[in-house]
Amino acid sequence: MTAPVFHQLRVIEVTPLTDDAVCVSFDVPEHLREAFSYAAGQHVTVKADLDGVDVRRSYSICSNANGGKLRIGIKRLPGGAFSQWATTELAAGTVLDVMPPVGEFTVSPRPVRYGAVAAGSGITPIISLVSTTLEAEPGCRWTVIFGNRGADSVMFLDELEGLKDRYPHRLQIVHVLSREQASVPLFSGRIDGPKLDELLDRVVGPDLPEEWFLCGPYEMVMSAREVLTARGIDPGLIHDELFFAGPLDPATLPPEPEDEAGTVSLHLTLDGRSTSTRMRPESSILDAALRVRRELPYSCKGGMCASCKARVLEGEVRMDKNWALVASELADGFVLTCQSHPLTESVTVDYDA
Ligand SMILES: Cc1cc2nc3c(=O)[nH]c(=O)nc-3n(C[C@H](O)[C@H](O)[C@H](O)COP(=O)(O)OP(=O)(O)OC[C@H]3O[C@@H](n4cnc5c(N)ncnc54)[C@H](O)[C@@H]3O)c2cc1C
Ligand code: FES
Repeated sequence: MTAPVFHQLRVIEVTPLTDDAVCVSFDVPEHLREAFSYAAGQHVTVKADLDGVDVRRSYSICSNANGGKLRIGIKRLPGGAFSQWATTELAAGTVLDVMPPVGEFTVSPRPVRYGAVAAGSGITPIISLVSTTLEAEPGCRWTVIFGNRGADSVMFLDELEGLKDRYPHRLQIVHVLSREQASVPLFSGRIDGPKLDELLDRVVGPDLPEEWFLCGPYEMVMSAREVLTARGIDPGLIHDELFFAGPLDPATLPPEPEDEAGTVSLHLTLDGRSTSTRMRPESSILDAALRVRRELPYSCKGGMCASCKARVLEGEVRMDKNWALVASELADGFVLTCQSHPLTESVTVDYDA
């Protein structure tokens, strides 16, 4: 297997979803169909040259994985480098660099009731999971609790309504608006722990969904996980996806160590080619490796997207954050190199594993 690389994909449509969000569809040519086949809930990393700066961001796929065309949903963030450009200037015909889909926020459809808690653009992977599983597994049902600022900022509203019309007895959608007063106060406010408890008691229960998918701001995801675990949901059946876990470190790479004192050896393999360098343990393995292999895959540098994943073949590392790898990958020796620091005098990682 080789490390993921960027491929050029042509944008075929950019459709407004709300005043500040768009849906972007890509044309995937025949020879890339296999590389771009995806599971519901996965995401792609997109790269653009914006005023001479290489900007990479991850976006969840919003389309049905049973043969749907590759689409992503992008919501504008105030001052956001990529999302500002994508929601105002990106147009059909633009060719973007896109990495093949990755991610573990996925499901093997079973005839059970699923639950989701999403906020804002967090609905993007959820709508893919919901539409794909409802079609593939006639015995499954979904309850989606979806928080937004106001009715005008709800992404994929028409698509969600269409799914509800198609599966009236198998899909329950509960909208909660933080900046609008609903006629029933239960449906106003932010989705925090007490609000979720109340919704579970009054709208979702008494038999709760057995498997859950959470996607939204850090505080919402953590409080939802706490509430669900306290109600006896198996923690292994609560999946979460974070889009943002704090400000990025400056993108600058650490300088090359001036002398060898206190440094460790780093050996890496990418695309079948091995390279060695020396690094300071306070640097991340990714940053040190980028100094010698510029083509290494990465996107968020925040432990969320998994594009910098590699397997440790020799030595030990410490990972600061991990929002992307699941237990089986950790057991197999995979790490997020953007979050990993060497603990031994020599470390060997394989980006092709
Ligand atoms: C696995 C994964 C999947 C993702 N899927 C989607 C998706 O489907 N749709 C989508 O719109 N976005 C998604 N994101 C977020 C996306 O990758 C970008 O982070 C987002 O679009 C902001 O990029 P930007 O360049 O516009 O903002 P930047 O220029 O990177 O940041 C602008 C400011 O906003 C802050 N910031 C950055 N991201 C966030 C955030 N999410 N919430 C709050 N503050 C933030 C930054 O610290 C900075 O102050 C996903 C992220 C990950 C890791
Ligand atoms: S670059 Fe995103 S997890 Fe490392």
